Amino acid sequence: MLELVDLSKKYKQFYAVKNLNMFIEKGEIVGLLGPNGAGKSTAISMLSSLVEPTEGDVRFNNKSVIKKPAPLRKVIGMVPQEVALYDDLTAEENLHFFGRIYRLTGAQLKQRVNEVLEIIGLTDRRKDIVKKFSGGMKRRLNIGAALLHEPEVIIMDEPTVGIDPQSRNYILETVKRLNKEKGMTVLYTSHYMEEVEFLCDRIYIMDKGDLIASGTKDEIKRILSAEKTISIQADRLNDSFISKLKQHPTINRVIAEEKEITIMVAKEINMFSTLIKIAEDAGIELNSVDIKTPTLEDVFLHLTGRALRD
Ligand SMILES: Nc1ncnc2c1ncn2[C@@H]1O[C@H](COP(=O)(O)OP(=O)(O)OP(=O)(O)O)[C@@H](O)[C@H]1O
Ligand SMILES: [Mg+2]
Repeated sequence: MLELVDLSKKYKQFYAVKNLNMFIEKGEIVGLLGPNGAGKSTAISMLSSLVEPTEGDVRFNNKSVIKKPAPLRKVIGMVPQEVALYDDLTAEENLHFFGRIYRLTGAQLKQRVNEVLEIIGLTDRRKDIVKKFSGGMKRRLNIGAALLHEPEVIIMDEPTVGIDPQSRNYILETVKRLNKEKGMTVLYTSHYMEEVEFLCDRIYIMDKGDLIASGTKDEIKRILSAEKTISIQADRLNDSFISKLKQHPTINRVIAEEKEITIMVAKEINMFSTLIKIAEDAGIELNSVDIKTPTLEDVFLHLTGRALRD
């Protein structure tokens, strides 16, 4: 249904997005993951024809959106990363305003506002001004504004950043429900692995403008099927321990944090006694050694050597 073909955006000599290829089938929830500055917002701005690509094409039902944006614009709902609401208007007034932008009027507008207030769980707060809302409520209203014209496709740019867990769960459940009950196609952008893991059928992972992995959750985790992740905890880690790990021939990757080190080794290798020996040699005491089954976060770590969240 939607396709990005060799899409790039260049700012001066810098590629914010480079050669991105993605597709979204009707009825899917697709996740777009990546750390700060990965190029997620730029990619979806090009997808929704808000930013013009330097190279490449966006295709909707096999027709170029760059040449003719109207057909996609009509059926797309976009939830921007920054909350875009009028603070001095009530929830209901905000929705009325956005509804009119979508050319809704009269009884139809009224009905859609009521329906949307139900969907986002703000019916009982409809008469309150947005200024008095919590971050989570603003986020929900921001989503509501994109739902008024009953879009076929909704694009959400990090809709749960900086909100309480309850609002976050509410939003995640709402996205699932819209997809299941209304068949809404969703592109969900996030840097929270667990959200994408919960919601999405397929996932794209970006870093520094590039696509670094894509596929179903299982396919992406299979990238790590040959390896296992071991996390080592100690109160006082020292350089000698870290460099011994790094030099060890069977350890493929070492990621050191303050009190925790994550290493990756081939699946069949038993590291336990080796680790204890290395710790002894380096003069440190280990608190715990955990062998973990791979998560999407581990895939990111594996591909980039960095954690997804900074
Ligand atoms: N208008 C612009 N002019 C110059 N550089 C830009 C512009 N917009 C984005 N960039 C740069 O492009 C890169 C990608 O930015 P983008 O906002 O797409 O990242 P993101 O993945 O959405 O990050 P975040 O998770 O922080 O929202 C960043 O390095 C950013 O500074
Ligand atoms: Mg962004």
